[in-house]
Parts: sequence; structure tokens; C-alpha cells
Amino acid sequence: MSESDWWKRGVIYQIYPRSFADSNGDGIGDLPGIIGRLDYLADLGVDAIWLSPIHSSPMADFGYDVSDYCEIDPVFGTLADFDSLVGEARRRGIRVVMDLVLNHTSVRHPWFLESRSSRDNPKRDWYIWRDGSGGGPPNNWQASFGGGAWEWDERTGQYYLHSFMREQPDVNWRNRELKEAMLAAVRFWLDRGVAGFRLDVINWLVKDELYRSNPFGLGPTPRPYDLQRHLYDRNRPETHAIARELRALMDSSEGRMLVGEVYAEPPGDPVLSASYLRPGDELHLAFDFSLLFSKWSAARFYRSIARWMEALPPGGWPCHVLSNHDQPRSASRLARGSRAEADARARVAAVLLLTLRGTPFLYYGEELGMRDGRIRRSEIVDPIGRRYWPLNRGRDAERTPMPWSDGESAGFTSGRPWLPVDPEHREINVERQARDAASLLNFYKRLIVLRRERRALTAGEWIPAVAGKGEVIAYYRVAGDERILVALNFARSLRKLPVERPEDWRVLCSTHRGAGETQSGLALSLGPYEATIWEER
Ligand code: GLC
Ligand code: CA
Repeated sequence: MSESDWWKRGVIYQIYPRSFADSNGDGIGDLPGIIGRLDYLADLGVDAIWLSPIHSSPMADFGYDVSDYCEIDPVFGTLADFDSLVGEARRRGIRVVMDLVLNHTSVRHPWFLESRSSRDNPKRDWYIWRDGSGGGPPNNWQASFGGGAWEWDERTGQYYLHSFMREQPDVNWRNRELKEAMLAAVRFWLDRGVAGFRLDVINWLVKDELYRSNPFGLGPTPRPYDLQRHLYDRNRPETHAIARELRALMDSSEGRMLVGEVYAEPPGDPVLSASYLRPGDELHLAFDFSLLFSKWSAARFYRSIARWMEALPPGGWPCHVLSNHDQPRSASRLARGSRAEADARARVAAVLLLTLRGTPFLYYGEELGMRDGRIRRSEIVDPIGRRYWPLNRGRDAERTPMPWSDGESAGFTSGRPWLPVDPEHREINVERQARDAASLLNFYKRLIVLRRERRALTAGEWIPAVAGKGEVIAYYRVAGDERILVALNFARSLRKLPVERPEDWRVLCSTHRGAGETQSGLALSLGPYEATIWEER
């Protein structure tokens, strides 16, 4: 792997900027706050940080509604702060990846203000305006955040499309000028030294040219959006041409990376994600959320992983993710029981994430076993939660402030945090875990170091050995003469792992054993929730 393939080798850490570190006491995380914590990230050993949107935004969807693609929202800082973040990160060997919301802007974006001002405005066609049909909206499309996807605009007597909130009008990627304006914004950030982009809902970008209604299919919950088959409002084949153009832009300089959020409802759709990974042509990476949607079960985990690996085109590179800002945190999702059990499962998950073939993505706090915060109804700020509580509590719980210490506001802010700090920060926080050699944080650090040291773990083949049977997943990672065996016990009880000569394997890193240990007998044994990495002697 060459230096410009850092995104294959590296660990990428997602920061939700509002919640990472607040430098000025307004209760909201910001860029100087992140700069102040770069040493922590360097020590953890991550290669890149991906920042959820920091562009100017009215914050209807906390930054996923952009009103200026070439400015930093004042709540996060300034362009000068951004430049120093990139520079300070680079000094520590950390790259900066930005979020890019290409499907929609804010209703307050000047482009949209112009577009909606009259039918013959030159930017009219930058958004998706349609006449109604039969006294109602143009078709049956639904917004993924609830309600119809078309908003009536009194002034010009047409509807505009919004696949998400009505404050987030979809742009029209079939319009050349719009496309050029977006690509100019991409260049703006490339020139400022960003290492790449996470492409928000990339599979939404292009819509059916004829605006046909979606067929209804059967879905698990009685919400119209989930009941539809999204044949015409997303996953249009033309999207791939845009991915290719973005890729060409990245390839104009060394070491840039694109990771696409290719969203499909649970249980996920690895084949769809993989369709964006034609090597050298489309995206470098794409998320498949099958694992993130999976319940705690070795068989289910294995199936999700195997499907993802099988779906990849030749030369395609996978990435793996267990948590993000839209889904319950893995430490909460995967364990409902005691703190100890959640911690044990988080360790098994950590070993999996860092030893699979593919790029691991970590969500801030995951390295501490941080769980979902408890949010009272009056504290909900996420638009989804506000609209659907109690059916859907929204996404605030997975966005609560990073627990740096057991102090007031967890050391996140000197002011009043924008979302409540979870009381659990008294036990789970960076300061405490940094001091404790046995903590999850230090376990993550060891895993990241090991991953970096062993070529088998980054570049090696992935050869399954136990496919979830008996709650065990085991696989080999092999590169040249380097042979590594990883075994994960998802069960609360003992398991045996039949290998030919158990004494040939020496522990590299383990939840239960010291490095260097060996075993004799007929099989390797696995304790409850044991995850161990061996190398062949
Ligand atoms: C993506 C983002 C999510 C956002 C939505 C609309 O799914 O991850 O947070 O609300 O797109 O931009
Ligand atoms: Ca702040």
C-alpha cells in the first residue's frame, strides 16, 4: 500500500463537532476545542478525523442544512480556525475529512432564495420545482423525515422537492451550473488541504427524470415513507456519473479520499454500497450499515460481514462502522444488561472492527464504551425526535457531549452544554480511562498500534474459519509469511476453537490473556466474551 492509500490502512474517527469540545463556554463544541484535543487523538492513534458539517447553517438539521458551502459557521469558528486545525492535525499525522451535503441545501441558502424568487430566475432550475398534479403534489414521494416530500410555494405556484426536512430543498444535479457551483465548493476545500470527503446520502443525488410515483411495498412499520419502494426518488443510475466526476476531482492531487454514505434501510444493502466502489473510478469507500443494524449474534454479525465482503467488486476496499451520529451507539445497542456486560461486548466489537479487512470508522466516545445519553422529552432538539416522540426519540442520545473528565459538564464545556451530559460520565471518561491500564480506551490504543504494526491486519487476506457457529467468529489474516488468527466469543460461556496445533499460536492482544502467552492441548479455549488475536510462531 502506498502513502496515498492511507485510507486503506488508517483508522478514521468521526467527530460530531457540536459535541466534542467547547473552547469558549457557549455550550457548543467548536474547532478550537477540537484543536485542543488533537493530542488525545494522536495518542489514540487515529489517522484521520471526519467532521460532521461545520459549514454555515441555520442548524435546522444541525449542519446538514448548509447555507454557505465556503464558510465555517460562526458557532464552530472561522476559516482561520479551520486552517489551523488542518495544520495542527497534519503536524500530528492526522488528516481532516469533511462532510459534504450535496443532495440539498438550506432553505436559507442564497441559491434557494434566488431560485424561489420567480419562475424565470436563472437559478430556478438549480432546485427541483414541479407543478402539482390533480390538485395535489406532483407525485407520492415522501420525505425521509416524515410527511410528503413536496412543499407548496405560494409565491410562484409550484412545489419544491425536499427528501428530508422542508428546510432542506433538494438541488437539481441535472443542472450543469448547479453542478459546477458544487464542484467549485469541493475545490475550495481541497485547496485548503482537506484529505477527502464523506458524502452525505450520496445515493439520493439524482431523481427520476419523469418524476414517477414510487410503488408501495410492504414494510415493517406503518409509516408511508417506509412503505414505499424507493424506485424513483433515489438510487438512480445517473448518480454513478456524478460519483465519477467527484472522483476525477480527487484524483487531480495525491491522497484524497471519498467515502459515500450509501443509505438503505435495515437490514442494509451491501450490493448497493458496493456498486459505488468500482476501483479507480468511483468512490474509494462506501458505508454498508448491515453491521451497524445487526443485533448481538455471532451468526448475524458474520453474515453481515460475509455479504459485504462478497458484494465487493474485484479490488474494491471495504470499510466497517458500528456507530455514527444517526443510530444508537454500539455500546447501548449491543448490550442492554449491566455495565460490565456492555464493556465486555464493546471489547469484542473493538477487536472485530480493528482486525477485519477494511478501514475501521470510530465514532467519538466509542473508544470509551460511551453509551446513549438519557434525554428527557423537554431536552429533545433533533427534528426527528421533536416530530415523532415517543414513537421515535430522535438522534440526540447518540450525540451527547464527549466525557473528558468526571468534573462539571464532563470537562466538555464551562457553560451549559447544548445537550445534557450523561451522568455516566462520572465512571466513563477519558481522564479515568487514560490512567487505567485495563480500560477500554487503552485496549483500543493497543489494538490500533498492533494494526499499524502488522501488515497482515491491514493488507492481508481475510480467511474465515468459524462462521458464527456456537456464537464464535474466527478468521485468519494472512500476508506473506505473516499469519494471524482472530477469535471472538460472543457468548457468556466457554467455547473451544479447534485448530491444528494450538501450541503454534502466540497471543498478540487479548481481552483475557497476556501478550506472548501460548496454549497446549487439542484446541484453543475461549472464555466468556473473549476476543483474542494470535500470531503463528
Ligand atoms: C444523512 C446524515 C443525517 C442527516 C441526513 C440529511 O443521513 O447522516 O444526519 O440528517 O443525511 O442530510
Ligand atoms: Ca463553543
